[in-house]
Amino acid sequence: MIGIFDSGVGGLTVAKEIFKELPDSQIIYFGDTARLPYGTKGADFVKKYSKKITEWLLKKHCKVIVIACNTSSAWASDYLKKEFPNVPIFEMISPAIKATALATKNNRIGIIGTPGTIRSKAYEKKIQNSAKVFSQACPLFVPLVEEGLLNDKITTEAVKRYLSPLKEKGIDTLILGCTHYPLLKKEIEKYLGKKINIINPAESLAKEVKKYLEMNKIKIKKGSAHQFFFSDEPYNLEKISKACLNKKVIPIIKDPFNG
Ligand code: DGL
Repeated sequence: MIGIFDSGVGGLTVAKEIFKELPDSQIIYFGDTARLPYGTKGADFVKKYSKKITEWLLKKHCKVIVIACNTSSAWASDYLKKEFPNVPIFEMISPAIKATALATKNNRIGIIGTPGTIRSKAYEKKIQNSAKVFSQACPLFVPLVEEGLLNDKITTEAVKRYLSPLKEKGIDTLILGCTHYPLLKKEIEKYLGKKINIINPAESLAKEVKKYLEMNKIKIKKGSAHQFFFSDEPYNLEKISKACLNKKVIPIIKDPFNG
């Protein structure tokens, strides 16, 4: 099984890309809705729960771990790789950086994410020095997506507000550094124009996972009996799962870290 975890429901955008690349591989998804959002928490908190979730997924016999949450990738991926040296752990940042390097022509790159991801500078640290990086936290995007306001005036206004400084800097590539942002791609494209490359880290990550499994001849259990765990009631799961997976997800509510 492939273990995918996120702070909540947003990681379903990543599950979507995994299903595209590896259509019948079984996944166990864990959304830490009891402790969400991660995007405004400190590094130690995110590391602590990312480790607990990874341990839990490994106990459930996951052979590969995907850190679908960008904030967790930013704060905790190096730590998790050290803590679990024998487990293939995939994070959102490195695959996105590779795709960005191929896409940019003018080396002016925009990154948007949660306040935590932006504060960590995790993307900047991995981008080569010759590039000019402009980053912007977009804290209103997550609630807008979770409310299903994907094509709404208020979202158009928020996109303009957050992205105008990046547009002014002449970026030619933008990284969507948060699970929820691929659902705003249309609005973002509408504002930035079709000429800007928009990088969805989940697409690059899913391709890397597939390549890794093939190269290492790792067999993942096949079937459609995926399991979607949440540590508390997921908010608007139906809306998000329809938008991401085009189907209803039956949540299993269980907090393995409480009580
Ligand atoms: N999943 C988080 C991320 O990708 C966004 C939601 C949150 O702040 O927990 O950074």
